[in-house]
Amino acid sequence: MFDRLPLTPAAVAAACLMTAMPADAQIQAHRLGGGIVRFDASPAAADARRPSFAMVRQFGSLGRINVGNAAVVPDFSRDAETGRFVASVSIDEGTSLYGTGQCAGPLLRNGYVTEAWNFDAFGYGLGDPNLYTSHPWVLAVREDGTAFGVLADTTERCEIDLRDGIHFRAPNYEFPVVVIEGSTPQQVMKGLGYLTGTIEMPPKWAVGYHQCRYSYNPDTRVKEVVREFRKRQLPADVIWMDIDYMDGYRVFTFDDEQFPDPAGLNRWLGEHGFSNVWMIDPGVKKEEGYFVYDEGTEADVWVRDTQGEVYNGEVWPGVCVFPDYFRSDVREWWANLYQDFMALDIDGVWNDMNEPAVFNVATKTMPEDNVHNADEDLGGTGTHARYHNVYGMMMLKATWEGVLAANPEKRPFVLSRANYIGGHRYGATWTGDNSANWPHLEMSIPMTLNLALSGQPFAGPDIGGFAYNGDGELFARWMGYGALLPFSRGHTAKGNIDKEPWSFGPEVEATCRRALERRYRLMPYLYTQFWLSSQTGMPIAAPTFFADPADPALRSEDDSFLIGQDLLVVAKVTPEADRVPVLPRPIGGVAWAGFDFPSFDGGRDSKDPHQPDLYIRPGSIIAAAPVTEFFGDRPDSRDELHLIVHVDADGNAEGTMYEDAGEGWGFKEGEYLLTTYRATTRRDGSVSVTIESEEGDKERYDRPVRVRLIDPNGEDTIVWGIDGQEVLVVTD
Ligand code: GLC
Repeated sequence: MFDRLPLTPAAVAAACLMTAMPADAQIQAHRLGGGIVRFDASPAAADARRPSFAMVRQFGSLGRINVGNAAVVPDFSRDAETGRFVASVSIDEGTSLYGTGQCAGPLLRNGYVTEAWNFDAFGYGLGDPNLYTSHPWVLAVREDGTAFGVLADTTERCEIDLRDGIHFRAPNYEFPVVVIEGSTPQQVMKGLGYLTGTIEMPPKWAVGYHQCRYSYNPDTRVKEVVREFRKRQLPADVIWMDIDYMDGYRVFTFDDEQFPDPAGLNRWLGEHGFSNVWMIDPGVKKEEGYFVYDEGTEADVWVRDTQGEVYNGEVWPGVCVFPDYFRSDVREWWANLYQDFMALDIDGVWNDMNEPAVFNVATKTMPEDNVHNADEDLGGTGTHARYHNVYGMMMLKATWEGVLAANPEKRPFVLSRANYIGGHRYGATWTGDNSANWPHLEMSIPMTLNLALSGQPFAGPDIGGFAYNGDGELFARWMGYGALLPFSRGHTAKGNIDKEPWSFGPEVEATCRRALERRYRLMPYLYTQFWLSSQTGMPIAAPTFFADPADPALRSEDDSFLIGQDLLVVAKVTPEADRVPVLPRPIGGVAWAGFDFPSFDGGRDSKDPHQPDLYIRPGSIIAAAPVTEFFGDRPDSRDELHLIVHVDADGNAEGTMYEDAGEGWGFKEGEYLLTTYRATTRRDGSVSVTIESEEGDKERYDRPVRVRLIDPNGEDTIVWGIDGQEVLVVTD
């Protein structure tokens, strides 16, 4: 597993070099919701509190509370050496720390120091302190499985030091700290969802598999890749257009020769069951006569430097200017650019380089003393240092609003590289420019999980690795589990070999097909988890310890993850695949049961060494379906339904499935079906599967139901019935 960072004497000494706040400083504590308390360092700090970017709205106090009554109270101080403002929370022994956003390292964060500072981290490696997104948030799970979370509500560069308790250090601003208490980590996550909002339901196609590369060009190459997927019957829903579709990397333009008819291409893709996503970066080429530059200059939208001059920085197109997304008029202007763009039958948008990345400067971003003319309700005019971490989030918000306004009847899908805690409200994220090697394959699981534990559930890595080639074995293994992460996309950098599922020959292709088929078989269950997350803020992929937060043995399981609460995925992340996973303990004597789907070539549970192992929780029912190749392949409401049932010690099981049209907003008006299935073992040993409860106006069709009763010791029993009617499973 990953090495822990040593707790050096110097580190301990640095942590102790703190001065207490003046004696008159008095911590103010206000309740913001159930178990959620905001602490300000003093009345003066409370008066000077800035608007929160993290929170879904500016919460008012639900009442002042006595600091002495709070279970967790932060300590505020100033770092004598650096002058930074420090918020500290001590932890009891046995407390495990998680979250802190995108971390290049293990799941368990005790002992690590990271920094919230969005960074174009191409080629990042294990232990790099800051990557593309900022989440100044820590989830702490106590020895007994109770938990709390701590948010440092600042957008400034913030050190998160977990070597000895929890310390947040940021310059100047006396930021408030919000503590969320919960009897379980799940409850804390729900509190975080209440505080920072939840994801919006994505279009169902975005829950499918995505194929990307830098770049598929020209358009004939895009079609070639798509044809190959369909010819080989490899499930996939989305193809991505990286920057080479543009005319000289000018955003909102198309290369005449390589992409002469984007609308025609998109329609063709739609006819082949593919949705499309096109990239838009924030850097706008500085060039008179280019409409985006001219319009933006006319409307005076660009970020300025400390001298009041429009700031120029180099990115893909050469010298660029950057929209000041902190102004609502600029966001509206940006959002409006998507009207014509989306009218070309574009389905989704990819916002990249929005840390913002700037080439040829040591900091890889714009100067910290650049000025943002932020609206008053965002905090007013301020330096880039103050707003850097939320630049990407504001771009994403403007994009989201533009995409929605262009097609109000559709659900937006936007992917953003940079983001900030709370930014999951506007889009998904991926773990940036990783590398095609085993340490990165291994790191992708904990990275995705810590993002989820920081409020961003819709995330995943570049499957196969972005930088470098890698080989077939690495690709197969990565696809094996990557196909089961919430955001599932293969991607690779310019100049690399082809990295489509068939690129490494028939064996790797077979593995990829099996992995992708698993995703599509599990789609009813996976889609249900997206819906649950959109309702509550719960992770879609969660760490294994969520199955049993009080079991210390699960706290540092880096190689496995849960999808929802009923499905455990145990990946093989080393070439030898010889690690022995720690599984959740049996429940009432019944173990989590290993299961698989009959393989595409007919055999039962045929062993593919690259696939992760799947386990189902005792007492649960997982909804699955026959393989489809893409969303809309078959009208799934009429299709068969598969229920995988693993009864608990009392012979019972339960599982919920959410269904809707997969697109549009009808579900908000009741056009959905939420069904809870229940299995009960009768006296004669037969198992009766019925609908326990149902909700929503969507029609239930008389679809065939295939109930598969898991028998951990032998052959599963399969019985067919009709959805809505009792299905009786009689075992021998
Ligand atoms: C950045 C992105 C990468 C993309 C490339 C070209 O490196 O992280 O995903 O392919 O830019 O647009």
